[in-house]
Amino acid sequence: MQRNFARFVHSAARKQLLEKIIRVDHIGELAANYIYAGQMVVMKGTAQSQIIENMWKEEKDHLDIMEKLVAKHEVPPTIFAPIFGAAAYALGVGTALLGKEGAMACTIAVEELIGQHYNDQIKELINDDPVEHKELLQTLAKMRDEELHHHDLGIQNDGLKAPFYQSLKWVIQSGCKGAIWISEKV
Ligand SMILES: [Fe+2]
Ligand SMILES: [Fe+2]
Repeated sequence: MQRNFARFVHSAARKQLLEKIIRVDHIGELAANYIYAGQMVVMKGTAQSQIIENMWKEEKDHLDIMEKLVAKHEVPPTIFAPIFGAAAYALGVGTALLGKEGAMACTIAVEELIGQHYNDQIKELINDDPVEHKELLQTLAKMRDEELHHHDLGIQNDGLKAPFYQSLKWVIQSGCKGAIWISEKV
């Protein structure tokens, strides 16, 4: 009886962990798509547009993966999805209006945070059960690697030279942290 109860508590905790991870990653990937959609409105036809298109393509794949996971695990998306989507689109347009460096600075700031965030989730899943979560761990590790590649592309393409880079980074990362905090809960 006691063992059954312990098992019940454990599987409820695992379900909660998975829901938290999938809900926040789903909105994160949706937001990434909105950022690049916004940036491309401004950057279309510029020398950087192909780099942005390529990153956007990987974000489309990420979103596709997360949408399948949302369906598989029946995770309700965060109720703030429309607001975060609009904010991400505005961020994309706004940073691109600062110039190509601004657009790349946005990618650097976001991906630095998201790379860490995926690593934190990977640690949580390994602590819970590396065998049980094997497939998800592989998925998250692949996405993390691609996000970190975007981060590096942002640096290679002069993102650190954006005007007020440090302030811009602080604002973007604070916004992302707030969105992550909320999305892990509702
Ligand atoms: Fe992504
Ligand atoms: Fe990304």
